[in-house]
Formats: sequence, structure tokens, C-alpha cells
Amino acid sequence: MPTLLNIQSSPRGLNSISRSLSHDFVTAWQTRHPDGKIVLRDLAEDTLPYVGVPWITGIFLPSDKHTPEMQRALAVSDELIAELLSADEILIGTPMYNFTVPANLKAWIDLIVRPRVTHSGPPERKGLVLGKTCKIIIASGGTYDQGLPAAASDYESGYLKRILAFIGITEVEVILAGNTAAVSFGSTTVEEHSAQFRPAVLASAR
Ligand SMILES: Cc1cc2nc3c(=O)[nH]c(=O)nc-3n(C[C@H](O)[C@H](O)[C@H](O)COP(=O)(O)O)c2cc1C
Repeated sequence: MPTLLNIQSSPRGLNSISRSLSHDFVTAWQTRHPDGKIVLRDLAEDTLPYVGVPWITGIFLPSDKHTPEMQRALAVSDELIAELLSADEILIGTPMYNFTVPANLKAWIDLIVRPRVTHSGPPERKGLVLGKTCKIIIASGGTYDQGLPAAASDYESGYLKRILAFIGITEVEVILAGNTAAVSFGSTTVEEHSAQFRPAVLASAR
């Protein structure tokens, strides 16, 4: 029974294009895996803490040396990592904010990238999260497809691929759902806009 971890970060609920395309992905995935389990991690609903001194100090100490403050900080990180490790596939549905990931997704990344837990740290610097695939749907107001001048400003897809590879997830597909500004400014509808990306989304939900 495969498990899909569905990570969503847009705060825009039903108006969100990354959520709408992610919904199409999840529906197709469920059809292909009728016995599959889907775990939702909604980063817009559950506000994650930023990493601070108790977390940063705690990750380098054995658990019997953890203060109650460190235990609390690490418990959140432990929960997110356990969720990640128990998934076979990961879906990340996210907006582009200021050319990169939204702060809530960055907070999740900071909590799951952990030496000796999700990567070995030096000297090997090997990822420890193995055997997983990740599909990423990025909604953006502009268009950043390869070959366009704006592609150089997409600091999100390359960053996500790099950080996922760092922890061992190298099988990653990114769907860039650009030009959502056309929906915001009323020159097209969500339905028309989504129709351009749906074939790629459905194909990726294997
Ligand atoms: C704070 C903020 C920053 C944004 N920055 C960018 C950006 O750098 N590039 C871009 O193309 N669109 C940008 N946008 C537009 C969003 O990427 C676009 O509205 C997208 O559809 C949001 O995803 P969602 O529909 O899933 O909520 C920004 C929107 C907000 C609210």
C-alpha cells in the first residue's frame, strides 16, 4: 500500500492554482492506487516554528542531554521527518513567492533537513531519505519555462531539486504552472488556465 505525502503551502484555499492542480494530481493518484494512503501536510493551516537555538543546539546532542525546550523544538522536526520517511511518494504544491519558495515551505525544509537523520553530514554528506519520488507543482504569476529570459529568475524549482537531492530524493519532477496572473487579471479563467497543465499533472500521478 503506497503512501503519498501531500504537502501544500498556498494560503489561498479554493482560489489557489497550485492547490487546484494538486487536487487533480491526488485524484488521479488515488485512482491509480485505490489502496494507497494519502497524508496531507497543510503548511498554510499548521504554522510551523522557525528553527531557533534549542533546535540548533539539540540536533548535535544525544537525546539524554536534551533540555525540555530542546525536546519541544525537536519533537516538531521529528514528527515532520517521520511523516516524510513513511511516504513512498511526495507531492509539493506551492506558489512562487519573490522568485522562490514561500516562507512556510522554507520553515518545513529547515525542520526536515537534519544531520544524521535525513543526511549524513560530513565527511560523507550523503542523503539518507532514499527510495522516494517527488512531484512538485509550482504556480507563479509569471512564466519561467526553460528557454525564456525569465527562467534565470526561477530560484524555486532548482532550489527544491537541490535540497531534496541533498537529503537523498533525486527522482523529482517539476511542473511549472506559470502565467497565473492571467487568471488574477481576468483575461482567462482558472479552468482554462488549469487545462494547459492538467495533462502533465495527470501524467505525473503514476
Ligand atoms: C507575496 C507574493 C509574492 C509573489 N511573487 C511572485 C514572483 O516572484 N513571481 C511570480 O511569477 N509570481 C509571484 N507571485 C504570484 C503568485 O506566484 C501567483 O499568484 C500564484 O498563482 C500563487 O499560487 P496559488 O495560486 O497556488 O496561491 C507572488 C504572489 C505573492 C502573494
